[in-house]
Amino acid sequence: MNTIHSRFWAIVPAAGVGKRMQADKPKQYLSLAGKAVLEQTLLRLLDVEQLSGIAVAISQEDPYWPELGIAGHPKVITAPGGKERADSVLSGLRSIRERADDNDWVLVHDAARPCITRSDVVLLMASLKDDAVGGILALASHDTLKQVEGRIIHGTLDRTHIWRALTPQMFRYGMLKAALEAGEGNPAITDEASALELMGYQPKIVEGRPDNIKITRPEDLALAQFYLEQQ
Ligand code: C5P
Repeated sequence: MNTIHSRFWAIVPAAGVGKRMQADKPKQYLSLAGKAVLEQTLLRLLDVEQLSGIAVAISQEDPYWPELGIAGHPKVITAPGGKERADSVLSGLRSIRERADDNDWVLVHDAARPCITRSDVVLLMASLKDDAVGGILALASHDTLKQVEGRIIHGTLDRTHIWRALTPQMFRYGMLKAALEAGEGNPAITDEASALELMGYQPKIVEGRPDNIKITRPEDLALAQFYLEQQ
């Protein structure tokens, strides 16, 4: 495997509707520190000069994306979004098929995580660039975790083995594409690592920063603004 000449690409799935935000537009277009959430996310990634290109998966009915200046950036490639997040990621992978080698690295990063820092992206790349499989940014769980059914506690998980999966998630182009294609339609695939796990691989984790939050609920926007200012 030729690791020396492997290049790095990013895929940003941005075709979700973000129902939990209860907003008039998808959460990636809500305003955050004077820009759309998606713009903030892409600006952070564009700051990582090692990335050869960034494929952004956009819903077919999305009127907001063409309005963003960043859509015309020479490193930004627009791909059609899919039904589920995994379909959008697969579409992003297909959009760079002609340019990416099977051994190239792909970093998949949620559009809804605008507080990603350049240092965390570079740490992930540096930690895993010689790895055979790849891995993800993750956070150890500090809360005690309960197994619950019908609001009744059925047990307590041993949190020493529990980590929260963040993004970016970094895998080789060929391996990730094959894993997502093999798992198409499988609801158990909620991130890229789970697709690789189902193929029998063991992705690694790299400890990420706790401020790399995913904007999910209305109050997350104010928190993201605070983190952007602090960083
Ligand atoms: O909804 P959730 O926050 O889990 O979505 C994570 C990311 O996946 C978001 O950036 C969202 O835009 C994206 N997504 C997508 N295509 C879908 C569903 C979600 O690109 N069909």
